[in-house]
Order: sequence, then structure tokens, then C-alpha cells
Amino acid sequence: MNNANTQKLLEVRDLHKSYEKDGVPTRALNGITFDVLPGEYMGIMGASGSGKTTLLNCIATIIKPTSGQILLSGTNISVFGGDELSEYRGSKIGYLFQDFALLDNLTGRENILLPLSIHDVNASTAEAKLAGIAGFLGITDVLSKFPSQMSGGQKQRVAAARCLISDPSIILADEPTGALDTKTARSLMEKLQEINRKRSRTILMVTHDPNAASFCSRILFIQDGVIFHELRRQVPAETRDHFYGRILRVMAQIGGGSANVL
Ligand SMILES: Nc1ncnc2c1ncn2[C@@H]1O[C@H](COP(=O)(O)OP(=O)(O)O)[C@@H](O)[C@H]1O
Ligand SMILES: [Mg+2]
Repeated sequence: MNNANTQKLLEVRDLHKSYEKDGVPTRALNGITFDVLPGEYMGIMGASGSGKTTLLNCIATIIKPTSGQILLSGTNISVFGGDELSEYRGSKIGYLFQDFALLDNLTGRENILLPLSIHDVNASTAEAKLAGIAGFLGITDVLSKFPSQMSGGQKQRVAAARCLISDPSIILADEPTGALDTKTARSLMEKLQEINRKRSRTILMVTHDPNAASFCSRILFIQDGVIFHELRRQVPAETRDHFYGRILRVMAQIGGGSANVL
């Protein structure tokens, strides 16, 4: 493994995915290639049906790509089987879903501790970690509640805590603000930014909300399963408002079908 490789946290190489439905193939990913460096907060934008969830699910090993490679810290994840796969899913990646994906019959505390219970972590270590993360996310007072007793914003913070508890190398988030109102979405974005900056977590977030995307340090725009454009925020010189303006302009171009002018 050379130095160039060790610096990249995630490498996605010429990824293709076709779904077969009633004998008719849908080409969801048509050759996607990009790298994510440690500490990046990467956004992925694109119209509905452009392949964003498929991409994230391939990285999460929820689905298998038709061809291409995905490497995490230089290791090809597609060769994983059995134990390696559950180790990868359980402790290398954290997945934040639009609909939170909490277990309804477990309390906040139990939901958050679930990834650790699979990994046999001792109780006092687990409790200390839980207290730290819950304090950071401001959810200490909902730990004994069930998901049905929490607001949307609280549920997503509990889900974020469940992601953080196993110290994943990368957090994958699929439209994490999609089910939240504007104000709650903004406060979740601020927390994710803190998770990225203060807790040095690498995040890969799918969103079609330009506001949420403006918190990212880099954005890939996907159209019809290929990368169509990339924006980089000039940190720290560029304000979030300015970056937001640039995102809107790319979105307008995509919407106007003028893909070839960029
Ligand atoms: N399980 C599936 N079976 C068949 N087609 C699918 C399946 N999942 C997604 N697709 C198709 O693949 C394309 C990309 O979908 P998806 O990755 O969900 O896009 P996005 O998240 O950007 O909305 C769409 O045309 C969608 O209909
Ligand atoms: Mg999707």
C-alpha cells in the first residue's frame, strides 16, 4: 500500500449498479469514481432517482455493486465475508437514515447502545461513552423515552448518537433532514458540522436541500448515475451563504438541463 492510498479514507472506483426488474434492467450507477479524505464533510446531491441511495447502500454493503471497487483505508470491502462484513458494518461505518430507523420497542438508551452490545463492550465503558455523546447531542433527557415519545429532531439525534457510539471511520447519511422541519433540520446540520469539526468524523451525506448541503466542505452532483459536477467550499474564506449561492446555481443548471455548459 503506497502513501497516496493511505491518505484516502474512502475510494470509489468505476462503480456500476444495475437493477433487474421483470427482466428490464435499470442502470442506477454508471461509473462513479471519487475519493474521500479523512475529515472531509462530503455532500452528494442530485435529482430523485439519480442513484444517491444506491451509492450509499453500496458503500454500506447493504447492496452489491454490479462492478467496480470500494476501498476503505486501502482495503477492498467487496471481498469481505462473514465476520469481516459484520465488523465493517458494525464499527467502521455509521448509517443515518431519513426515517431514523430506530427500534420502536427500545428506549433511546437501548437504541444507542445496540451497536456496542453486538460487540461485547463492557458496561461501564459503554455507559461513560453514552453519557458523553448524549450530553454532546443534547439528548440526555430523552434516553429513557421510547421513539414514539420523541420529536423528529430528538429521534434523529438519538440515531446520530447510535452512529457515534462505535467510533465509525465514516458516517453515511441519507437525507438525514428529509423528515425534519426547517428549524430542526438546521440544528441537526449544526450538530453534524460539530461532529465533523470537533469530533473529527468524516461524513458522506446525501441531501437535496441546498441549505443542508451548504454545511459541507465538498459536494458531488450526480445525474443519471454519473458525477456531473463538483463544488469545493473555500474553507475558511468562503461564507456558508456564498457557498449556498454557488450550490443554487449548479442546481439551476441541472434543472434547466444545461449539463454541458458547466
Ligand atoms: N431495488 C430496486 N429495484 C429496482 N430498481 C431500483 C431499486 N432501487 C432503486 N432502483 C432504481 O435505481 C435508480 C436510482 O435509485 P436511487 O439510488 O434510490 O436514487 P436516489 O436515492 O437518488 O433517489 C432509480 O431509477 C430507481 O428506480
Ligand atoms: Mg434516495
